[in-house]
Amino acid sequence: MNALISTPAPSTSQTLAPAVEALFRRLSPIRYRSPLRYPRLVAQILWRKRRDHAALSQRIQALIAAEGRALAPEVLDTYLESVLMLHYLQLSGVQVYSMLKPELMDSLARECAAVVGAGVDGDIVDVGVWKGGSSMIAKAVLESLGDGRRVLCLDLYDTMDLRVIDDEDPVDDRIIVSALDLAREYFGTEGVRTSVPEIRDNFRALGVGLDGVEFVRGNLIAPDFPFDAVGTIALMRIDCDFYTATKNTLEHLYPKVQRGGTIIFDDYYLEGFGERRAADEFRARVGDGRPLERVGQSAVWRLPKG
Ligand SMILES: C[S@@+](CC[C@H](N)C(=O)[O-])C[C@H]1O[C@@H](n2cnc3c(N)ncnc32)[C@H](O)[C@@H]1O
Repeated sequence: MNALISTPAPSTSQTLAPAVEALFRRLSPIRYRSPLRYPRLVAQILWRKRRDHAALSQRIQALIAAEGRALAPEVLDTYLESVLMLHYLQLSGVQVYSMLKPELMDSLARECAAVVGAGVDGDIVDVGVWKGGSSMIAKAVLESLGDGRRVLCLDLYDTMDLRVIDDEDPVDDRIIVSALDLAREYFGTEGVRTSVPEIRDNFRALGVGLDGVEFVRGNLIAPDFPFDAVGTIALMRIDCDFYTATKNTLEHLYPKVQRGGTIIFDDYYLEGFGERRAADEFRARVGDGRPLERVGQSAVWRLPKG
């Protein structure tokens, strides 16, 4: 109860610099413009979506049946929609630097500004980076506030395939990754893939500084992930989707999050992903039963000020 009282006020009061808001539009222009600006993409969707949806859905259903599972049709449909969109963007050469919806970009920026404004010590840690979108938002906020703390970007920096799953992951996590493999093969596209040089280029292309931005590479489920490269943390954003990766991250990095700091679970409310189970188990283990704040599909965990 005390913890509840000492929870920092919601960060929505933070004002964002115009440059940060402008960055949101550049990270994911497709979400801010009329679809008519993307005729190749619209053509892909109109001409192939029905066929692709049916073909992939059939393959994924077979995969699910082979795992002895029955995923709710609406869960499968939501997931398929995002997989199809990812591949249509890639097929039509539309550059997107972040998977975050506008409300999540906004929330991340405000949470970063809030920990800086509250004087919470430590770096910003972005776990699950893809093309660097969320990391760029964090860095742009720090730049706008003239704050020199580091942004640490943790990722595999490779193709997200079955290597990111282990026996502890729920079967649904394995199905999601296998379905991504299927889609990559079906479309002949890169799927969810990234590399450090590509992300550096993305920062440069969007005019976000790389000073103090550090890339920590490894598989979060492996015993040798270099968690030691991370020092004290003011804010950590967890967007590595799956159970074991989230669990390992929390076990190694939660003790480094400072009082008054913040942890964001990107996919907490997304059905089928193991992130939520890992978050719930961990929060129960550390005895924090306070409600999380919901922002779209994500959840914000504000640690007590102390
Ligand atoms: C949903 S994307 C991150 C999206 C990003 N935050 C953005 O702004 O668009 C998930 C990322 O998590 C990474 N990831 C997933 N499992 C991982 C693991 N076990 N180890 C390291 N990285 C992992 C993937 O490589 C991928 O880049």
